[in-house]
Amino acid sequence: MMKNFRRSFFRWCSRPVLYLFITPVILSAFMLSGCSGEDDISGKKEVKIGLAAYDQYDNFISEMMELIDEDYAKIEKETGITVTTEVYYGQGSQFSQNNQVKNMINHGCDVLCVNPIDRTDTSYIINLAQENDIPVVFFNREPVSEDLLRGSSFFYVGADALQSGVMEGELVADYCRDHPEADINGDGVFQYILMEGEAGHQDAIIRTEYSISTIEGKGIALERVTSAIANWSGDQARAKMKSILESGTKAELIISNNDAMALGVMSAYEEAGIPVEEWPAIFGIDGIAQGLDAIDKGTMKATVYNDKEGQAEAITRLSFALATSAPLDDLDLENGTYIWLPYKKVTKDKLNEFRH
Ligand code: GAL
Repeated sequence: MMKNFRRSFFRWCSRPVLYLFITPVILSAFMLSGCSGEDDISGKKEVKIGLAAYDQYDNFISEMMELIDEDYAKIEKETGITVTTEVYYGQGSQFSQNNQVKNMINHGCDVLCVNPIDRTDTSYIINLAQENDIPVVFFNREPVSEDLLRGSSFFYVGADALQSGVMEGELVADYCRDHPEADINGDGVFQYILMEGEAGHQDAIIRTEYSISTIEGKGIALERVTSAIANWSGDQARAKMKSILESGTKAELIISNNDAMALGVMSAYEEAGIPVEEWPAIFGIDGIAQGLDAIDKGTMKATVYNDKEGQAEAITRLSFALATSAPLDDLDLENGTYIWLPYKKVTKDKLNEFRH
């Protein structure tokens, strides 16, 4: 992040005529500041970042929030600048999150990092931030572009939902091709249940559409026996799957929009006393710790890694750069606004790459 500043600074210093006059001044400035160098960009010794996440019970988001914390600690060590955070969780209400944002601004946060509750309703946050001249890094739940592109101080860090849907579809298709016995009733068609995330969430809509179209595009015949919306939650997926099982519905594949819901489905099978050998082939997305364990045990066949480490690093580096008015050139911003982290396929043979 600081590379560009250093590069232009040294290029500037290499002008010979300037050298004679300026060197003593610079040397004494470095000596007076204890030679820390990094904290001289904005002159700040401390920055305050406001963090607002949509829900504290979401497994993927909680793993990412822990990483964000660790990454700010690393930045503090690297730069000598203290980073304090003010953290809030919305309780499923955009209205409460708007108030939390108001508090963060009133409490003097330099930058806000917001995981919105309702991605179609971020205009209040954007207006307030604009009035107070505070940059906002949105993450994980992508605001509609009409809102996000309203100013140059709004950003989004996330991953491309379409890629995750296609990858999940490819993993399922490969599995069906390599395991014809997964077609338990031998009718040449894979009966499946789809576990969907929140209605209206870009990841839920796009993963659902593209996982299925990718499998079918690979020539695998599918039949949807039922689907359920479980809002990314393991508990909700468990409850929904329990009633699906009680209704006698049978499936050969479970295609879930995320790992937490896939794990909830597994709990329902366990609680129903169905032996693991009779479970359908289950697939998720995220690569949360318990999801990776399930792949290890063989109860989940594969997942798609949602790079929380990369996203946490991008959120913390970008927000810190904004708070210290450092250049953003090294941050790989698409259109000056977006940072996208690629998904990766996880199968049992590749587990070690994803366990940190
Ligand atoms: C998705 C993730 C889900 C859930 C959701 C929350 O990217 O796959 O598990 O965390 O974000 O917005």
